[in-house]
Amino acid sequence: MMQAQDITVKYGRTTVLDNVDFAAEAGQLTAIVGPNGSGKTTLLKAMTGEIPASGETTLQGRAISQMSPTELATQRAVLPQSGNIAFPFTVLELVRLGLTSGLASHDPTHQETLPLKALDRVGLRGFEGRLVQELSGGERQRAQLARVLVQIWEPTLNGTPRWLFLDEPVSALDIGHQLVVMQVARDFARAGGGVVAVMHDLNLTAMFADHVYLLDRGRVRASGTPKSVLTDTDLSACYGCALRTNTPPPHGGPWILPQATSSHQEATL
Ligand SMILES: Nc1ncnc2c1ncn2[C@@H]1O[C@H](COP(=O)(O)OP(=O)(O)OP(=O)(O)O)[C@@H](O)[C@H]1O
Ligand SMILES: [Mg+2]
Repeated sequence: MMQAQDITVKYGRTTVLDNVDFAAEAGQLTAIVGPNGSGKTTLLKAMTGEIPASGETTLQGRAISQMSPTELATQRAVLPQSGNIAFPFTVLELVRLGLTSGLASHDPTHQETLPLKALDRVGLRGFEGRLVQELSGGERQRAQLARVLVQIWEPTLNGTPRWLFLDEPVSALDIGHQLVVMQVARDFARAGGGVVAVMHDLNLTAMFADHVYLLDRGRVRASGTPKSVLTDTDLSACYGCALRTNTPPPHGGPWILPQATSSHQEATL
């Protein structure tokens, strides 16, 4: 289990996250949704130790502040929201960076095959020699995901769950690759790891998440199953537009449709 308690982040005098409590179970995909600027990326960065925050985050009961960078890198991997790289790496070189940061294995055969397996998982086999800067936006996003997967390829290490933190992993992807990547995330969770993913697509969230946190201006407005959180009232008020939740077959989960004809005022009534 991962837990974060009383997470508060301030930039200058502005409180961006206000006493947020968060918990995610291994074996599950936990999504964080909310409007632009609601604090999703900040929460992810606070919980992965990338930015200072008051409060405490634990992985399997251990405070991340007590873990060395090397230990943290073996326990969790982070896909940032924007993964631009400054150097002219090839795709294979980029993905191999995950091997060193996660100390995945000292076995040379494993070191050789793992990046290729990860590229295969994200549909990029054959792209090994391409320069990352010359990829399309969606290809680049999937190459970054392959790097992150390589870091913690096995979802558990000596029986302990490892954690994937993904900030908008499908934001640049076409619908087919969105499904591929969400399935990769769910498979990681089903194999015993934990996944925390920031999402904008509410319907993909409803399809794939086991648990959802809805952030609103730096606070948790609702958390629970997709069905309990993705409601007309909370979503419309939070996003400032009229949204209607249905439960069409076949999957029977919530399905959210924007109500294009409604005005902003109607949405917030
Ligand atoms: N380094 C920073 N300095 C000052 N303010 C910041 C900084 N980073 C983020 N913010 C502000 O904190 C708030 C939350 O930002 P955050 O990036 O967490 O939002 P988000 O929910 O991830 O939004 P988006 O959906 O656009 O990615 C925003 O108002 C943002 O302008
Ligand atoms: Mg963000």
